[in-house]
Amino acid sequence: MTIQASPSRSGGGPPIGVERDAVRRASRSLLEEHWDADGGYTVPNPGTYQPQWLWDSAFHALAWGHLGRPDRAWRELRTSLQAQHTDGFVPHMRYPRNFPGLDPVGLWDRSGASTITQPPIYAHAVAHLAGRGSEPERGLLVQARRGVEFLVRERARIDGLVPIVHPWETGCDDSPRWDSWRPPIGDLAAWREEKVALVRSVVHNGAGSAVGGGSFAVGSIGFNALVAFALGELASLLSDGVLAETAAGLVDAIEARWDGETWVDAHSRAGAGTPTLDALLALLVVRDRRQVAAAFDQLRDPHGFAGAYGLRYVRADQPSYEPQGYWRGSAWMPMQYLLLLAARRWGRDELGQAIRATSCAAAFASGWSEHYDPDTGEACGAAPQAWASLAAVIADC
Ligand code: GLC
Repeated sequence: MTIQASPSRSGGGPPIGVERDAVRRASRSLLEEHWDADGGYTVPNPGTYQPQWLWDSAFHALAWGHLGRPDRAWRELRTSLQAQHTDGFVPHMRYPRNFPGLDPVGLWDRSGASTITQPPIYAHAVAHLAGRGSEPERGLLVQARRGVEFLVRERARIDGLVPIVHPWETGCDDSPRWDSWRPPIGDLAAWREEKVALVRSVVHNGAGSAVGGGSFAVGSIGFNALVAFALGELASLLSDGVLAETAAGLVDAIEARWDGETWVDAHSRAGAGTPTLDALLALLVVRDRRQVAAAFDQLRDPHGFAGAYGLRYVRADQPSYEPQGYWRGSAWMPMQYLLLLAARRWGRDELGQAIRATSCAAAFASGWSEHYDPDTGEACGAAPQAWASLAAVIADC
């Protein structure tokens, strides 16, 4: 079967049609090639990203489950939570062994794992796999629950939102929403140094878990939407009213931050309301139909988020938009997947179909790269990157 989208719907550009089976085959071999049997995880990219990353592994698990290997999916979820602290905190990186050229101790002051986290997509992965009839282990469910509960319990809220303590915690490392922490744009070495300095400024509790930002504490809408989504997924899976109530509280806090155009992060510097795609992840959880309609308009707009090869990370009408810039405007497969879930939640079939078609076309056009130019499909970053295998999940969901 061929997946088609009309170019006008997906933002202009070439008509695209890709065989669904070809997407499945290519995704499956990508995962197989990157599978590390000893470490129990899929290496994001063998050259650039060798350790295990938390949200990458959740996306890999979704793809493994979808492509007929729930055993690998569960194994990867288990290893991604292996470095969890006793208070529930889950480090965003795990170093199962030494990697030449990487110095975890120099960066994190310890060897096996990082000291900050990433969005708790693992909860969605567990729920998704369970929904497809693959029974989760009790222990994993408990771990997922404790991981999400840590965030809502241990971090002092900013305007009702769970703060992130470092830009890396969102997974959207160089978002223009962090520009007021960033040295002059263009000076990448200085920005890297600043991000390392921000790691050092993180406040930890007695168990070594990140509870607060020193120089960086932000109520990120994207991150909070994913926390609320995780709580909601676990609440349904476990039929747990307390989790559902906690999610609802976060959703109230997110809805209160709508400025007529987007949901604005909670912090006191400039740039909190830059129109980035991760802020629209609020569509996974909010209820306000006026906000929802205005957000979806931008996702369909060719001058907004809709590129010919996928949803841009930054709206094209923004001065900061760079179609090939790292978290500055290029398209990211995990974002396409999450926005597809939002489109499905709201019955936006046309947008859903556009995301399916553009994502499959972009996977092939970009050589399954880490991210890609949303206007041309050209590869950006590492290639191939294991999470591009999400294209197979996107094609079918
Ligand atoms: C980059 C991305 C981050 C991802 C990591 C590993 O740092 O910004 O989201 O988790 O690479 O793929």
